[in-house]
Amino acid sequence: MWHRFTERAKRVVFFAQEEAAGLGDNYVSTEHLLLGITREPESTAGRILQRAGLSMDMIRSEVEKHLTPGEDRLGHDMQLTPRAKRAIDLAYDEARSLMKNYIGTEHLMLGLVREGECLAGQILKKMGLELDRVREMVVEIRNSEEIGEKSMRIPRTWKTDTGTQMAGKDLLEISYLTRDEIDAIFELASRLKIDAKTTRDWRVLAGKTMAMIFEKPSLRTRVSFEAGMTQLGGHAIYLAPSDIQLGKRESIADAARTLDRMCDIIMARVFAHETVVELAKHAQVPVINGLSDLEHPCQALADFFTILEKKGDLKKVKVAFVGDGNNVAHSLMLLASKVGAHFAIACPNGYDPLEKIACASESFAKETDAKIDIVRDPVDAVKDADVVYTDVWASMGQEHEAEERAKAFATYQVNSDLMSKAKPNAIFMHCLPAHRGSEVTDEVIDSTQSVVFDQAENRLHVQKAVMALVAG
Ligand code: CP
Ligand code: NVA
Repeated sequence: MWHRFTERAKRVVFFAQEEAAGLGDNYVSTEHLLLGITREPESTAGRILQRAGLSMDMIRSEVEKHLTPGEDRLGHDMQLTPRAKRAIDLAYDEARSLMKNYIGTEHLMLGLVREGECLAGQILKKMGLELDRVREMVVEIRNSEEIGEKSMRIPRTWKTDTGTQMAGKDLLEISYLTRDEIDAIFELASRLKIDAKTTRDWRVLAGKTMAMIFEKPSLRTRVSFEAGMTQLGGHAIYLAPSDIQLGKRESIADAARTLDRMCDIIMARVFAHETVVELAKHAQVPVINGLSDLEHPCQALADFFTILEKKGDLKKVKVAFVGDGNNVAHSLMLLASKVGAHFAIACPNGYDPLEKIACASESFAKETDAKIDIVRDPVDAVKDADVVYTDVWASMGQEHEAEERAKAFATYQVNSDLMSKAKPNAIFMHCLPAHRGSEVTDEVIDSTQSVVFDQAENRLHVQKAVMALVAG
């Protein structure tokens, strides 16, 4: 867990060790951690304490009243007392529930307050720091100017916890992403979403241009990428199907080589997945898949980000997909297997997800304890589900099969009866556009369980994070 600590949080622990050693104790306890925080007044925790009207000196003198010299155990390895260990576990828990993939001093302080039995927790409580108030202050202070300035620098130098740098990376398929990168995208998306409501300046892609190739229609993908690029200070160029006519007017390779000389990112929505693969092969700049016949990775990322917001721990979530084993189902299944969720898809015979996707998902699932089920009966899929998801029965490019598919999927409609078989607090999801009355009834999509417009909004935040990370 130490590798997740920010530099400041590491310094707090180092100071805590010094404090313990100064008292002749090589066991770091919660009060030493609190003293460590007082030696980092510029840290987020330090600033929160000062905002609460507590000076570092006040805290130090309060802690010192309770300190007793330790046994002389110097020379042995420095260790944490069980309560300090628990406070750090709680700090990790707080960071995760705030969707952070790092542990900062603010999380350490939340851990100390939450471990109410420990001395530091009791001192903080006595000084008026209640858990809920500290949590509110952590969110408030993140919206403050200093953090905003720090945020401005993040995408340019961003490294994920394992040191993976995403700059220059293509996003064609979910399997291109490591768990660490998925966390980094969610963490940055969450920060961008909070900051979208403030006047914070996030123009980290100023002067950069993204070419957006569309072989198919779009509302959400086009608008979220274009608005997102504007909000990041860059510019997006919409290239309609009739504009460049990939593979007809000129080869995919030549179009890629040309765009590569002029743009910083290429986003493409295509019929054949091979087209985005070919674009990525011939362009040095990152290529993002905005939907192909095989996958819709940006949709799945926005969807799991939405599930994280609504349900919390993704490892405890069951997602039931009812309908066609299509591009959206593929990306959701792969992402579920990467994050350790339970994914069950109910589809008619002949409309299963592709075997290569199911096999890849199974192999990721072995590492994450995810569970993947492919079943025929929608009731089996939605049983105990936290999320019920569906998509159109005939995707773009399959319109000529619409009639035949309507027959095959007739018993796969998500209606109130099917929703009642899921968990009572299950949410309903759809990537949109929806064919109301076919795969979903008005009653369900317009119900309070439906989160379809939250999903649509999250396309914006998540794709902004992806663009900032790959082109920053
Ligand atoms: N969900 C989605 O990709 O919507 P659009 O087809 O409108 O872009
Ligand atoms: N499966 C649908 C998704 C649309 C966003 C399609 O490919 O048309």
